Amino acid sequence: MHPVVATVLLVFSCAVLALDNGLMRTPPMGWLAWERFRCNIDCDNDPKNCISQDLFRDMADRLVEDGWRELGYVYVNIDDCWSSMQRDAQGRLQPDPKRFPGGIAKLAQYVHDRGLKLGIYGDLGTHTCGGYPGTTLDKIETDARTFAEWGVDMLKLDGCYSNATTQELGYPLMSKALNATGRMIGYSCSWPAYQGGLPPTVNYSQLGEICNLWRNYGDIQDSWTSVLRIVDWFSDNQDILQPAAGPGRWNDPDMLIIGDYGLSMDQSQSQMALWAIMAAPLFMSNDLRTLSSSARFILQNKVAIAINQDPLGVQGRRLLKEKSGVEVFWRPLSEGASALVFFSRRTDMPFRYQTSLRKLNYTAGTYKPYDVFMEKPLGLLKDSTDFVVSINPSGVVMWFVPPAAQWQKQAERGRMFYSRSDQGNTRVLL
Ligand SMILES: *[C@@H]1O[C@H](CO)[C@@H](O)[C@H](O)[C@H]1NC(C)=O
Ligand SMILES: *[C@@H]1O[C@H](CO)[C@@H](O)[C@H](O)[C@H]1NC(C)=O
Ligand SMILES: *[C@@H]1O[C@H](CO)[C@@H](O)[C@H](O)[C@H]1NC(C)=O
Ligand SMILES: *[C@@H]1O[C@H](CO)[C@@H](O)[C@H](O)[C@H]1NC(C)=O
Repeated sequence: MHPVVATVLLVFSCAVLALDNGLMRTPPMGWLAWERFRCNIDCDNDPKNCISQDLFRDMADRLVEDGWRELGYVYVNIDDCWSSMQRDAQGRLQPDPKRFPGGIAKLAQYVHDRGLKLGIYGDLGTHTCGGYPGTTLDKIETDARTFAEWGVDMLKLDGCYSNATTQELGYPLMSKALNATGRMIGYSCSWPAYQGGLPPTVNYSQLGEICNLWRNYGDIQDSWTSVLRIVDWFSDNQDILQPAAGPGRWNDPDMLIIGDYGLSMDQSQSQMALWAIMAAPLFMSNDLRTLSSSARFILQNKVAIAINQDPLGVQGRRLLKEKSGVEVFWRPLSEGASALVFFSRRTDMPFRYQTSLRKLNYTAGTYKPYDVFMEKPLGLLKDSTDFVVSINPSGVVMWFVPPAAQWQKQAERGRMFYSRSDQGNTRVLL
């Protein structure tokens, strides 16, 4: 399909109801404990890396002091294993007293004082995946009220130890219960991941009405194989998944593992680029205290973030899967712009891929691409002109592609974006 025609269709197909809490009009960004810190509760022997209030305070400090917050990474999210093994005398969830001696409300205050938001984790079942108290149907209202009283801003509701019937009742009930608290709480549903992620079991219209984001598929692990498995599943099912996303309602392919142990620098750029194309929530799960500068450079790439956060909120797609092992991804953006990712699945050497914008079905005209990771504007490019990109094995070349006629406007938009991030230290985008 013609990208411009596709954009128009997509915009219309997105004009469906979204959870009416006004939150997450662009994909949420922040930090989430799970992939990197799992259920490490051994604070006696591993105090720096255990699930405790200190870990979340440390990450909040880093988000503020290392420039993440200004780029949009504002959520500090607790995952499993935060709670005590027992509810309190009133039947409410309570944090582990040894690891969270100040309580969650105080941690929320700490996070809010720094201009950040706090996320927490629950599980619609008898137990969480880690074996902590679950939120059975009779506890939904209590737990929603408890989270709201603590000042929590987001809830990830997992689905271990529950069955299909409980999930069908529970996920919508929690949505109502969160709304009834009167506090704006972003709602992440793991429901579709427990239903196989696809219709007819999953009803994406319903999900969009009750959740702000949802995990469609299995957990990410710290490996390139895991990233590829996720990208393949999302791309193979894009005809179903892509129309489900839009402002306030996002598919969630899971956390960014950039800065951990499993990805090379090229693979890290690939994850960042593909998550931006997929309009994915950007939750880093890494150790911000010891992050390498190369990982930080990728995660803080302003144009990649701007593409992810594009206000049109249309998820991108894989356009082409070449026999050479090159795949081309495309995402329509606001103001007639778009993003392209040339991704190589090869394992030999940098591959010179030749194409033209016309072959990628762009409208006839002149464009002014910008290379996102080289941070370099390219020259004017006619739709009919062949060009070559050199793509590293398991790497990407990512372009931001505004029409040349609009590049001045885009540049202004870029500068606005930059001045917000750089506090007046203007860098010209185009
Ligand atoms: C371009 O459009 C044609 C006709 O709709 C279609 O067959 C082709 O697959 C499209 N190409 C790409 C790269 O999307
Ligand atoms: C689902 O779980 C609930 C709560 O544990 C239980 O009462 C119900 O019988 C289960 N339903 C099925 C179909 O297994
Ligand atoms: C609750 O839902 C109503 C309408 O569905 C919406 O207007 C309101 O903002 C919501 N409130 C919260 C706290 O989510
Ligand atoms: C899916 O959910 C929507 C909105 O809640 C509802 O109108 C529709 O009937 C559901 N579709 C199916 C197949 O259950």
